[in-house]
Amino acid sequence: MRENDVIIKEVGAILSDRKRLAYVRSFGCQLNVSDGEKIKGMLKRMGYDFTDDERQADIIILNTCAVRESAEERVYGIIGSMKKLKEEKPSLIMGLSGCMTAQEHVVEKIRKKYPQIDFVMGTSAINTLPKLLLDCLRGVKFSADTGEYDDFSEHTEQVRESTYKASVPIMFGCNNFCTYCIVPYVRGRERSRRPEDITEEVEKLVSNGYKEIMLLGQNVNSYGKDLAENVTFPDLLRRIDRIDGDFVIRFMSSHPKDATRELIDTIFDCKKVAKHLHLPIQSGSNSVLERMNRRYTVGQYLETVDYIRRNDPDFSLTTDIIVGFPNETDEEFQETLDIIKRIRYDNIYSFIYSRRTGTKASEIVDMIPEEVKSMRMRKLLEVQREVSTENYKRFIGRRMRVLVDGESKKRAGYVTGKSDEFIIAEFVGDRSLTGDFVEIEVTDAMNWAVTGRII
Ligand code: SAH
Ligand code: SF4
Ligand code: F3S
Repeated sequence: MRENDVIIKEVGAILSDRKRLAYVRSFGCQLNVSDGEKIKGMLKRMGYDFTDDERQADIIILNTCAVRESAEERVYGIIGSMKKLKEEKPSLIMGLSGCMTAQEHVVEKIRKKYPQIDFVMGTSAINTLPKLLLDCLRGVKFSADTGEYDDFSEHTEQVRESTYKASVPIMFGCNNFCTYCIVPYVRGRERSRRPEDITEEVEKLVSNGYKEIMLLGQNVNSYGKDLAENVTFPDLLRRIDRIDGDFVIRFMSSHPKDATRELIDTIFDCKKVAKHLHLPIQSGSNSVLERMNRRYTVGQYLETVDYIRRNDPDFSLTTDIIVGFPNETDEEFQETLDIIKRIRYDNIYSFIYSRRTGTKASEIVDMIPEEVKSMRMRKLLEVQREVSTENYKRFIGRRMRVLVDGESKKRAGYVTGKSDEFIIAEFVGDRSLTGDFVEIEVTDAMNWAVTGRII
């Protein structure tokens, strides 16, 4: 770290008489957004301010996602269109970070085809940004540092996107190797942060007025398994729940194979933990789950759901679904539709399967035409719309606590926010309520939100 301080000073000195505006854009999941906040923190230490307009920027960093092909294509498109910016302003520095850069074939492609990119930094190499920038300022044409580091950038300054909602990564990487997924290859093995570092960060955030703390990991239920100290995810939740202050605790994601009774009991016991669980099922068919290497059956998943619902019939569940996993049959897809109707999720995040080079599933010869996959996707969304509309009616006449996010984009005079159950709620109110908790009474339900009035 001390070495970094020296480099940061050096970069600051070289740049001292230059305009320093940075444009940082993060794609993909909230873990990546959180890395983006650290990248901004690092840039701030080197004297940069920030802009949302890439044309004004003196440095552009695209913090990329590799989870689906569409995510990568978007980034290539943007890099392509930014070539012109560099021609207009040769002093412009352009760098890439995030999950795409952890794939060798991507770095090769960038090196060969996109000379506008000055440097590439890997997913756990945020602390190498000053060094890469220094190389660039000294005239090095292309530098890449994609090595794996055990450094969590602990105590790195962050420039956060929000003043009332904060993401707090508790662990990095994934050991699960679901056959479709690139994440274990680009994020490495599971590494947990020390519980003291996490609670200290949350305490600071809460004392600075943050109202929502989102604990992040690819599989938060594995938290602590790699630590010398005997600490589990439920232990961590209890420790954070004991922190004084008015805030809501959320977490994402939970792998169903590791969602234990202890976890569910902890959610019920802890006052500040939201009564909502995001539990990605991916498919309602045992044969597909096996081909995905998910390591649970639909029956085991249902046991968890039934246990939750016995304790609280209104408990909010959300999930992820992959449509069109290689050679998914009509019957297997039908099983997914059946399970959605049976479980009645409040929301689902659905994706058409995307082939990722290097994963096990990419080796399967897929016989399902793309049109069939799109048709299934439409059917899935249609079924879910019906389920949500029905589901949200259960809140009518009841009270909800909502953290206000600002003016509604859909209805003039309304503000929008998320309830503790993670449901979008809209009601007449002033935008000055942004970042506050308000109590509402629910008066109506639609398929994407509930409507209410402030009590
Ligand atoms: N660790 C999290 C998921 C991270 S990726 C978990 O296991 O829940 C978020 C979601 O993207 C996954 O749940 C999955 O539904 C989807 N996804 C991942 N790889 C995909 C691929 N190759 N094609 C389509 N969707 C994918
Ligand atoms: Fe990917 Fe599976 Fe790990 Fe989630 S648990 S990140 S889907 S490999
Ligand atoms: Fe994408 Fe990397 Fe997150 S692949 S979903 S940004 S962990």
